[in-house]
Amino acid sequence: MRCAGIAFGLALAALLAAAPALAATNGVGRPGYGKTLAREMCGECHVVAPDQKSGGDPLAPNLVERVQDAGITELALRAYLQTSHPIMPNVRLTVEQTDDIVAYLLSLKGAKR
Ligand code: HEC
Repeated sequence: MRCAGIAFGLALAALLAAAPALAATNGVGRPGYGKTLAREMCGECHVVAPDQKSGGDPLAPNLVERVQDAGITELALRAYLQTSHPIMPNVRLTVEQTDDIVAYLLSLKGAKR
């Protein structure tokens, strides 16, 4: 249990160290990290970048196009990613990964496609 305690302490320290950097941006997420995460975790099915030719799953909407929709808000994305849905597999994301991916996707609003 000592090890777990140390690991938790380290994680907490890392989180606290990151806090001032996060406060410098508008949202909590880091779009730069989110882009990499989205390519790795979502890109096999969805188009997640304007320069990505196609997603792998014909049922998965092109997210670059979807985020142009005014209804795709931060809240809508978070709700979608945190609840279960019938067709898309439930991707398990940490809070940080969710923040980063949501920040990245929202940064695509207005992106050329
Ligand atoms: C294995 C394939 C697959 C992966 C991986 C995947 N998705 Fe999906 N996603 C889908 C499919 C299929 C749908 C359409 C579901 C439906 O129509 O109900 C969908 C739907 C969505 C929607 C709803 C879009 C809309 O039009 O309302 C969002 C948002 C979304 N995915 C985000 C993500 C994000 C972010 C990731 C990565 C963390 C991800 N998805 C990973 C297959 C995938």
